[in-house]
Amino acid sequence: MSQIAELNETAELKLGDITVEFPVITGSENEKGIDISSLRGKSGYITLDLGYKNTGSCTSAITFLDGELGILRHRGYSIEDLADKASFIEVAFLVIYGELPTKDQLAEFEAGIKEYLMPPAGIQQMLKAFPSTGHPMGMLSSAICALHAWYPESLNAYRPEDQKALTYRRLLGFLPAISAWIYCVQNGQDFTKADASLDYSENFMKMMFNKDVAPAVVSAINKLLILHVDHEQNCSASTVRMVGSSHANLYASISAGIDALWGPLHGGANQKVIEMLEAIKADGGDADKWLAKAKDKDDPFRLMGFGHRVYKNFDPRARIIKKAADEVLNNLGIVDPVLEIAKALESKALADPYFAERKLYPNVDFYSGIIYRALGIPTEMFTVMFAIGRLPGWIAQWREMRIDGDPIGRPRQIYTGYPPRDFVAMENR
Ligand code: ACO
Repeated sequence: MSQIAELNETAELKLGDITVEFPVITGSENEKGIDISSLRGKSGYITLDLGYKNTGSCTSAITFLDGELGILRHRGYSIEDLADKASFIEVAFLVIYGELPTKDQLAEFEAGIKEYLMPPAGIQQMLKAFPSTGHPMGMLSSAICALHAWYPESLNAYRPEDQKALTYRRLLGFLPAISAWIYCVQNGQDFTKADASLDYSENFMKMMFNKDVAPAVVSAINKLLILHVDHEQNCSASTVRMVGSSHANLYASISAGIDALWGPLHGGANQKVIEMLEAIKADGGDADKWLAKAKDKDDPFRLMGFGHRVYKNFDPRARIIKKAADEVLNNLGIVDPVLEIAKALESKALADPYFAERKLYPNVDFYSGIIYRALGIPTEMFTVMFAIGRLPGWIAQWREMRIDGDPIGRPRQIYTGYPPRDFVAMENR
């Protein structure tokens, strides 16, 4: 499925008296890598790369991104075109199966998902059992993992692809419904029913708010979901692949991806952006003071929604989302003082040498939270929205990993603990 070409070039590494040669490989966008998989066998050495900043963990044909040029493409199609011209379900099909669906394929895929818009009733009991302090991401991850109990056949790692496809559809149907039910539980609302006559985003929003939703809102949600569909080997996608590499079932793998996404340095950043903007507003709205805090190395505060591991010029998703934020706020006639603070922070940070030198720009999360807030989605649900958008990417990454037959993920380490020492019996401690 994902192919690499071996070039005639080799890379040499000198380690004392030994010289080790490695093949140089290239991807379809001419990005080059050194295949060091034989290093340990040939020399006894391993490489150390904390945070995998320079390490490819797999080959993949799903998403191409160039952080320097601000390019993001899924299966060759630009994110700008997809966000402008496609539906979320179309993009989901594209990333999972590799090609845009024909009309018939799309209709069949959509109908398949619509068969699974209502999760098992036991999931409602489970969600109700959480104390009010439960975070929606923890509840979502638990509920998704629990689904294996209703579909135990998913534990068979070797079942045929058409049976796995049912799990993809179930997840795509159930995840937004469970998300809406989490909102219902947390807001003391009755559990809502799905409406299969509605489009994916509209059904989800209606299940959450239990009322009709304006077309401008549906269109904004569709765009936001598309912008989050996949982002190659990020923390949560790598987690899904890592868990899946042990042949754990897809529900468990996606549940683990949700947990990885939860963290404030990843998907949790959109919640943290709004909390930060509200804190700045409550503190008098002085953007300069908070920028100074972000630059102060003795202060743990970071400008949330700024910076990205890969994008070092601009995040193409942030551009699209910034425009969408303006459109939806104008459309709904919303004036949000928090948005004004966001704009002031952005323009000051972009003009500040600290951020320029470190190539720190607004990322997708800087604006997504502003839209979610305008649509009445509570802050704690923001990362859940991200998870709904990212689900097709996680499924695609898991599927590709299994089809490519990737080995179990098992990094090495450099041990820094004690040398051997004698056990000391309890009476002598
Ligand atoms: N505010 C202030 N300083 C920052 C920020 C920030 N948001 N981000 C990075 N820096 C600084 C670091 O302190 C460091 O400075 P130094 O070189 O003087 O030590 C330098 O920029 C490089 O930062 P790293 O943390 O090494 O960059 P890394 O690539 O590891 O981290 C990350 C990227 C995690 C996204 C980081 O920029 C960050 O924490 N941003 C805020 C959280 C956020 O918005 N996360 C969402 C990411 S997008 C997504 O997951 C969808």
